[in-house]
Amino acid sequence: MKLSTPLLWGFLTGLPLVLAGANCNSLAQRLRVELSPHLSGENLISATAPPRWSDFEAPDPGAVVNVATESDVVATVKYCAERNIPFLAQNGGNGWATTFHLDKTGVIINLAGLNEVTFNADKTQATIGGGSNVSNTIDHAYAAGALVVTGNCNCVGTLGALLGGGYGNLVGKYSLGVDNILSLRVVTADGLLRNVTATSDPDLFWALRGAGPNFGIVTSVTVKSYPASEEEMQAWTGSLVYGEHQLEDVVQAIQDLVLTPDMVIFLYLLADPTTGSPAVIAAPFFYGGNATTGKAAYSSLYAIGPVADSTSVKPYNRWNEGSDGLCTRGSFKPGWAAGFQDMVPATWRGIWDAYVAFQKLPGAANSGVLLEAYPLGKARSVASGSSAFPNRNVNLNAFAIPWYNDSSLDAQAAEFGNTARDLLRSTSGLSRPQTYVNFGYGDEDLDVIYGSSLARLRDIKKKYDPNNVFNQWFNIL
Ligand SMILES: Cc1cc2nc3c(=O)[nH]c(=O)nc-3n(C[C@H](O)[C@H](O)[C@H](O)COP(=O)(O)OP(=O)(O)OC[C@H]3O[C@@H](n4cnc5c(N)ncnc54)[C@H](O)[C@@H]3O)c2cc1C
Ligand SMILES: *[C@@H]1O[C@H](CO)[C@@H](O)[C@H](O)[C@H]1NC(C)=O
Ligand SMILES: *[C@@H]1O[C@H](CO)[C@@H](O)[C@H](O)[C@H]1NC(C)=O
Ligand SMILES: *[C@@H]1O[C@H](CO)[C@@H](O)[C@H](O)[C@H]1NC(C)=O
Ligand SMILES: *[C@@H]1O[C@H](CO)[C@@H](O)[C@H](O)[C@H]1NC(C)=O
Repeated sequence: MKLSTPLLWGFLTGLPLVLAGANCNSLAQRLRVELSPHLSGENLISATAPPRWSDFEAPDPGAVVNVATESDVVATVKYCAERNIPFLAQNGGNGWATTFHLDKTGVIINLAGLNEVTFNADKTQATIGGGSNVSNTIDHAYAAGALVVTGNCNCVGTLGALLGGGYGNLVGKYSLGVDNILSLRVVTADGLLRNVTATSDPDLFWALRGAGPNFGIVTSVTVKSYPASEEEMQAWTGSLVYGEHQLEDVVQAIQDLVLTPDMVIFLYLLADPTTGSPAVIAAPFFYGGNATTGKAAYSSLYAIGPVADSTSVKPYNRWNEGSDGLCTRGSFKPGWAAGFQDMVPATWRGIWDAYVAFQKLPGAANSGVLLEAYPLGKARSVASGSSAFPNRNVNLNAFAIPWYNDSSLDAQAAEFGNTARDLLRSTSGLSRPQTYVNFGYGDEDLDVIYGSSLARLRDIKKKYDPNNVFNQWFNIL
């Protein structure tokens, strides 16, 4: 219906349809006239943004500003805020939540141009651009000879993951991403570019670390980094594939596994890459491990008898390659997630049944369920109220991703996702539902997402964003 007005108008007046088409781009045209003169370059405005990870209820902008400098971000935020034009920063574009609402009348601020990654002289600090993805950050860190806490998928925005908490392979050694932040350069709702530290703006520093997208656009962040030799940048990782009948044993083994700070384990319900049939896939990670120490650390998983084993020792810049397939852009990929405390075999059998029922539908073969288990001792040595990240008590996170390309499957996708989430919650061992903001579907109550931090976040929101211009990501109201 939205399109019909200009089309009908074009038809009635006999104007060529190309004019009606131009009308659809009017926001981009307007920005070229009004905003471009305030930007660092002449051709920074386009009509479409880089493809997103999921097309399901994806933000649909009327114009895109491809910022090249921090000042471009300042100019764009001021321009949009003053005119009540909705806007959204796009980084890796992996955010799958249904909370975006641009509806052709809003602006995407594409941060991809802000991808600089630099290190201080002794490599104890890294400064990461607001638009650097995980592979770009790791490539620079590997070349510099330092480790940085990032997410585990190459296509994810480094800061997109970090600002919500930041789980990754090095969490056991160095704690969550947010715990490594030293300062952030942030454009706030008033159009100021601030250098935010624990002492300069303690409230904002607290809020950005867990609920960042509600408070500003981070143009760069300075985090702790950890100098490491080539030898110290190796890990043993890969995947162990099991048959369906081994599901309960694998779930129990993960439940019983004691993760040292060097270990991480993922569990995927996913099509076996070689056969295409639904499979149970464990993905162990062991920092500094080799085939001997890795197999010993995960001996209980080996005892079950995997049908395939692709583990090997890999350098830092290849640790994430096992998940590159999950980075494929496009198609519908809504995600239903929950945090929980224990791996319960009966729960996972129920999730399996929901997964295989959906996965066999036409075009849905790539669908999956993903569980992440990190060693959390280090993260729990950091005070739980020290940042807005509210989930230090949560042991495990999992999410179901129906992956399909025909909207006639929407209802079945939702049934699969809700069934998986309900099952996880039913045996969560938590006193109330808790979901990591970066894994949320978008329909959760705000206290499920922000938990005990919500009241203070609301106060800080009133102070720094009184007109609620940063309103696209699990909006704090
Ligand atoms: C394949 C895959 C793998 C994942 N792996 C991990 C993982 O290992 N660890 C983990 O913690 N999470 C992981 N996630 C979840 C991930 O953290 C979220 O999807 C996150 O929202 C993605 O950030 P993005 O920048 O890629 O997405 P976007 O959609 O670009 O951004 C998500 C939200 O963050 C905001 N944002 C992004 N950058 C900035 C910035 N510089 N300043 C202010 N706001 C910003 C955006 O405006 C948007 O509201 C994964 C997700 C996927 C799809
Ligand atoms: C990451 O960003 C770099 C540029 O900074 C780009 O060349 C690369 O294709 C991106 N990789 C992924 C996996 O998105
Ligand atoms: C931000 O402030 C901190 C503390 O004052 C300082 O060390 C750092 O250099 C500043 N960063 C930038 C980019 O201005
Ligand atoms: C694996 O690592 C252990 C401990 O660091 C070491 O003793 C052993 O020699 C290594 N084995 C191989 C095959 O490299
Ligand atoms: C949808 O998925 C099916 C099966 O995977 C594939 O053959 C088809 O090309 C896909 N269509 C689109 C538009 O991506």
